[in-house]
Amino acid sequence: MKFYLVIIAFVLMSCSQTKDANIKHDVEEKYIDSILAQMSIDDKIGQTNLRGTSSRAKTLSEALKEDVRQGKVGALLNVMNVEFVDELQKIAVEESPHKIPLIFGRDVIHGFKTIFPIPLGLAASWDENVARSSSRVAAIESSSVGIRWTFAPMLDIARDSRWGRIAESPGEDPYLASVLGKAYVEGFQGDSLNNPTSIAACAKHFIGYGAAIGGRDYNTTLIPEPLLRNVYLPPFEAALDVGAATVMTAFNEVNGIPATGNQFLLKDILRDELKFDGFVVSDWDSTIEMIAHGYARDEKHAGELAANAGMDMEMTSTAYQNNLKELIAEGKVTEQQLDEFVKNILRIKIRLGLFDEPYRDKTNEANFYSKAHLDLAKEAAIKSTVLLKNKDVLPLSKNTKVALIGPLADAPLDQMGTWTFDGDKTHTVTPLDAFKSANINHVYKPGLTHSRDLSKTQFKKALTTAKQCDVVVFVAGEEAILSGEAHSRAHINLPGAQEVLIKELSKTGKPIVLVIMAGRPITITNIINDVDAVLMTWHPGTMGGEALQEIVFGLREPEGRLPISWPKTAGQLPYFYNHKNTGRPANKEDYVAMYDIPVGAWQSSLGNDSHYLDIGYKPHFPFGYGLSYTEFRYDAIKISKDTINFNEDIIINATLSNIGKRDGKEIVQLYTQDVVGSITRPVKELKGFQHVSLKAGETKEVTFKISSEQLKFSNHKAVYAAEEGHFNVWVGPNSSSGLKDAFYLKK
Ligand code: GLC
Repeated sequence: MKFYLVIIAFVLMSCSQTKDANIKHDVEEKYIDSILAQMSIDDKIGQTNLRGTSSRAKTLSEALKEDVRQGKVGALLNVMNVEFVDELQKIAVEESPHKIPLIFGRDVIHGFKTIFPIPLGLAASWDENVARSSSRVAAIESSSVGIRWTFAPMLDIARDSRWGRIAESPGEDPYLASVLGKAYVEGFQGDSLNNPTSIAACAKHFIGYGAAIGGRDYNTTLIPEPLLRNVYLPPFEAALDVGAATVMTAFNEVNGIPATGNQFLLKDILRDELKFDGFVVSDWDSTIEMIAHGYARDEKHAGELAANAGMDMEMTSTAYQNNLKELIAEGKVTEQQLDEFVKNILRIKIRLGLFDEPYRDKTNEANFYSKAHLDLAKEAAIKSTVLLKNKDVLPLSKNTKVALIGPLADAPLDQMGTWTFDGDKTHTVTPLDAFKSANINHVYKPGLTHSRDLSKTQFKKALTTAKQCDVVVFVAGEEAILSGEAHSRAHINLPGAQEVLIKELSKTGKPIVLVIMAGRPITITNIINDVDAVLMTWHPGTMGGEALQEIVFGLREPEGRLPISWPKTAGQLPYFYNHKNTGRPANKEDYVAMYDIPVGAWQSSLGNDSHYLDIGYKPHFPFGYGLSYTEFRYDAIKISKDTINFNEDIIINATLSNIGKRDGKEIVQLYTQDVVGSITRPVKELKGFQHVSLKAGETKEVTFKISSEQLKFSNHKAVYAAEEGHFNVWVGPNSSSGLKDAFYLKK
């Protein structure tokens, strides 16, 4: 197979830089065609089969080996025994009909052995370098055991914290999600996909999975095309722009048609518009789930629908394996379509270098949990942590005596969060571990054994300890199992008796630092007044405890900002900052809080606006929100011109001052509003952000540049364009505050 490389190398050396991509493409396609020409229909169908296995299998089944030997398997997921990986690959490349290598896939979502914060936490870093480094480390560690394909990044915009998979999402904003999605792909796939430490990325779940009604996983989505194109599609476009090798279809139906059988999504958008040339894989059994959806009559019909939509590889179910040959004989699917599936699959296997080096690169086998990897994981945890409240209690002085309490203060498995099949909890540094290592003067009493614990038997010890200490650090939250796939919650407050214990602790009069480890925003309206500080660490991963200790004691400051609006209650979900204004926008002038309404009030005596009588109309904390240990002030926003033409850029400046006593970092955010559009437009849209470090007392001018290109949107005719008119612009610390100015975009 090295022959192929020799051709490529010769061709590339003999042609100018400008044409080499086309030449390389042509050579690649000729090579693919040469393999395809030798394959029977059975051989081709074999390549479309992604065989599911158990990561805990103790033996390698003879039946599986025989299927590989006969070329009936194109890829495998969850083979976690390296001897099995090596043996199966050897069978494929030495004994199968065309010696086509296998590709081994795994959910390497936020780390492999070294576990980083969950993706919603990584999103809170607002830092593409954090995203890129986390996925690079994951690729290095996982490729050493033969994994060359991860089912990540998950790019589903999420607007409902009841949804369990919000833990895996990049949050609610398409711009932030696009910045992160690009970086994840770059980290996974490295500088070149055929580098042995590179693993193929998989942009998932295409598309709209996060719009599930009620936040109920797998549920129905209704997504009008402008919403699809302006909110859900951009992160996928960003991932494909940097060469994401594969795309996974979503479980959900989109406007009545399941994603796995949706030609508009998989052909019109993905192939025809976005020119995607990798391969599309279904999600787990999502092909045959079209039967349950009521879209396919049976397995064969499901296979026909998926094939005609353009699904290349079928995960775990066997609709293709059992029916594709017959469907082709009946003319319901053509062999040309099957050829396209196989070409897409072979193209990625070639780009991964599997034809030249099919066996795993063992040089990195010992790199699990290297110091460099752990340091990056700690840095990510620090940058992901969001300070939501601080009533003059943080940072603690070194000699503070701390009562370390709560069900997640020493929960090494739960601290890693969802989708950490391969993380080893014995390597987790919990807050208790970190307090001990740092010789913090502390007394640890869990108070509750796990997040859902309803027992009060340990309360007394916890309360006694609190009274004997200066400050309580209460590490609360959710066990990992309470978020992630299929784990949606209708109530999203602290489970178990955590709120009860916090209120009891509050009666001691000791300051309480509430630390939340969870896979979603947790409603804390009931207890916010009982605590003096709130740190959201998400599920912070392997190094979360050390990161927390350094933040609590001021060695570092919490650097995160919310990637998702933080609700007061589940009842106000879905909620998102980039909402439409409506014809009757909520406003404080009209709003009368429910318990302020006079008894016997006249029916139309209240504000007729879009709000809730009981909780108003705002989130508890807005998208982009996060405090630091110092204080920043924004001054003097100014824009370069009041009117810009379509081919011009506009410069927006503002002054940022650190008016606190500590050096600190701010994430300066830029939002715009297209005031009037051919369809209604969001009240605000994030268009840029910058990380700015300022010493105490320092002032700096922050400059943003935006072009009309960034003001484009897709209207009701799917025309993607910017429109003439007035625009508002804000520069500030989050989506609900900042300095405002305006400009006119003129055709
Ligand atoms: C799961 C998930 C998907 C994952 C796949 C393989 O059901 O929906 O995100 O990659 O199956 O584990």
